[in-house]
Amino acid sequence: MHRLSLVFSLVALLGVGVVFFQVSRMEQARNEQGSAPRAAEEPNGKPEHMEVAVYMGRLQRFHQKLWLAGNVGNAELAKFYLHEMEETMEAIADGHVVEEGVNVSAAMETHGLPAIGKLEDLLEKEGVGAMHANGGILVEGCNNCHIATEHMYIRIKEPEAAAFPDQYFAPVTK
Ligand code: HEC
Repeated sequence: MHRLSLVFSLVALLGVGVVFFQVSRMEQARNEQGSAPRAAEEPNGKPEHMEVAVYMGRLQRFHQKLWLAGNVGNAELAKFYLHEMEETMEAIADGHVVEEGVNVSAAMETHGLPAIGKLEDLLEKEGVGAMHANGGILVEGCNNCHIATEHMYIRIKEPEAAAFPDQYFAPVTK
C-alpha cells in the first residue's frame, strides 16, 4: 500500500513537470514571436529587407522625367533628376540587399551608379544636348543590371513619349 502511493505520487509529480515544461515552451514561443519585428532589423536600425521594386518604380519615373527634361534642353531639371536617381541607386547600393543569392547592392555599384556618373559628366562638360543624345548609356545600365540580377525579362528603353500632364518640363524663362 505504501509502495503504491509512492508510485502514485511519482506519476503525479511527473505530470506536473510535463505541464510546466509545456507552459514554458509556449511562453518561449510567444516571446520569440513578440520579438520578431526587432529581429528583422540590423543593429544600426535599418530594415533588413528593402523592397527593391519600390525603388525601381521611382527610378522608372525619374528616368521618364529625365528624358522629358533633356528633350526640351532643360539642363537644370535634368541635373535634378540625375541626382534623384543617384540617391535612389545609392540607397540600394548601401542597403546590403541580397536576394536569392544575388548581390543586388553590388550590381547597383557595377551597373547603375557608373551610368549616372557618365551622364552627369556629359551634362556638365558637354551640355544637356550631349547628355540627352547619350541616354542609351543609362538604359544599358538598367538592362545590364536586370540581366545580372536574373530579371532579364524587365527590359527598359529610352522613352518615345512620356506625359506628366501636371508638370512643366521647359526651362524657366527669366
Ligand atoms: C541592381 C541593379 C539594377 C539597376 C541598375 C536597375 N534595376 Fe530595375 N530592377 C532590379 C531588380 C533586382 C529588380 C527586381 C525587383 C524585385 O524583384 O522586386 C528590378 C525591377 C525593375 C522594374 C520592375 C518593377 C516595376 O515597377 O515594374 C522596373 C520597371 C525597373 N527595374 C526599372 C529600372 C530602370 C528604369 C532602371 C534604370 C534607370 C533600372 N531598373 C536599373 C535591379 C536593377
